[in-house]
Amino acid sequence: MDHFLYKGGILHAEDVPLPQIAAKVGTPFYIYSTATLTRHYQLFKDALDGVPNLVCYAMKANSNQAVLKTLAGLGAGMDVVSGGEYARAKAAGVPGERIVFAGVGKTRADMRAALEGGIRQFNVESEPEMRALSEVATSMGTTAPITIRVNPDVDARTHEKIATGKSENKFGVPVARAREVYAEAARLPGLEVVGIDVHIGSQLVELAPFEQAYLKVAELTRVLRADGHDIRRLDLGGGLGIPYTRSNEAPPLPTDYGALIKRCVAGLDVEVEIEPGRLIAGNAGLLVTSVIYLKEGEGRDFLIVDAAMNDLIRPSMYGAYHDMEPVVQAAPGVARQPFDIVGPVCESGDTFAKQRDLTPMRAGDLMAFRSAGAYGAVMASEYNTRPLIPEVLVKGDHVAVIRPRPTFDEMINRDIVPEWV
Ligand code: LLP
Repeated sequence: MDHFLYKGGILHAEDVPLPQIAAKVGTPFYIYSTATLTRHYQLFKDALDGVPNLVCYAMKANSNQAVLKTLAGLGAGMDVVSGGEYARAKAAGVPGERIVFAGVGKTRADMRAALEGGIRQFNVESEPEMRALSEVATSMGTTAPITIRVNPDVDARTHEKIATGKSENKFGVPVARAREVYAEAARLPGLEVVGIDVHIGSQLVELAPFEQAYLKVAELTRVLRADGHDIRRLDLGGGLGIPYTRSNEAPPLPTDYGALIKRCVAGLDVEVEIEPGRLIAGNAGLLVTSVIYLKEGEGRDFLIVDAAMNDLIRPSMYGAYHDMEPVVQAAPGVARQPFDIVGPVCESGDTFAKQRDLTPMRAGDLMAFRSAGAYGAVMASEYNTRPLIPEVLVKGDHVAVIRPRPTFDEMINRDIVPEWV
């Protein structure tokens, strides 16, 4: 459920009609709903009620400071994957003890910054990384809390580009080698083992792969405890999928996911951490765009819109589906017809949808792409010297631009022409 509903035939973000925002900020733009962000975070909290837990929002999904502050204010922790994300989390006021640091390529500078600013744990992904962290922490006279990310070799049954839990993926250490790696972790100075980490992929639409992975982690918890390690936290990653089509998709709900987690960790007396990103932000955001031209092609009609692949790359990168709707609904009874919805970028890959049935649209009409709150703005680029599009946050009838559109001059003036050119 989200808070983007039609009222009187006009799509609203909470209490605000989208045409009003479009008139103010211009198109294209991203718009987020505070009520939906809050609701989705709360669903996870409720689902894990009864087990000690920390919901660490995977901020790679949407890391705007206003979004982070909204979630941090509710008590969320953050899952960060770079020095930049760490700095963003801190800037949003998230205390170090609520930040977990993931990623296969943490640099020594990242490690130092996090140890200085405070960190709940590093999720270590390899032995070389573990040795580097040991050196950095020791040189700073401190101790780094760690989990080791294990790779359970489970098929997440999702898009190959976002599956992470198979042995062929670059992530984690194989479960079969975990004892060895934990033994080395215990020997190395400057490290304190606090738990185990796992994450098998994103946009999972079934619970079974989670269950397979979590049962392996539960078993490993027992084995590692018997080896003398103090496994007190399990970071179970993110990945719960969302419905991208309103009509025919029903991925498992956070309640079912929470119940599964509780079953898998029953009797272990551990603190659970989860790292959801997409489920919190995805359906809390829309991309609003205008039709520039209706172009009648050979046997197909193109709606050329002012958003492009640089603004929302998911369709061209993953073949992802996003629901698309007119902001102003057509009169009842108007027939739908197929359109190809494309952007202005000079690549055929700049296609958002092919042969999508929509009520007739004309130049100047507004369209909304749904489920664009996660992995939308954060993956945008300035390809074709198209400015990053604004982000807007709504709460009830409050509207705020939370990232303005840069001017062409601002973009151009970032370049430096050496005097010898
Ligand atoms: N934890 C780790 C270690 C991750 O790698 C990820 C996502 C998450 C948590 C959050 O997963 P989520 O709950 O959002 O599924 N750009 C792609 C998605 C990439 C996901 C990468 N890792 C897309 O647009 O579909």
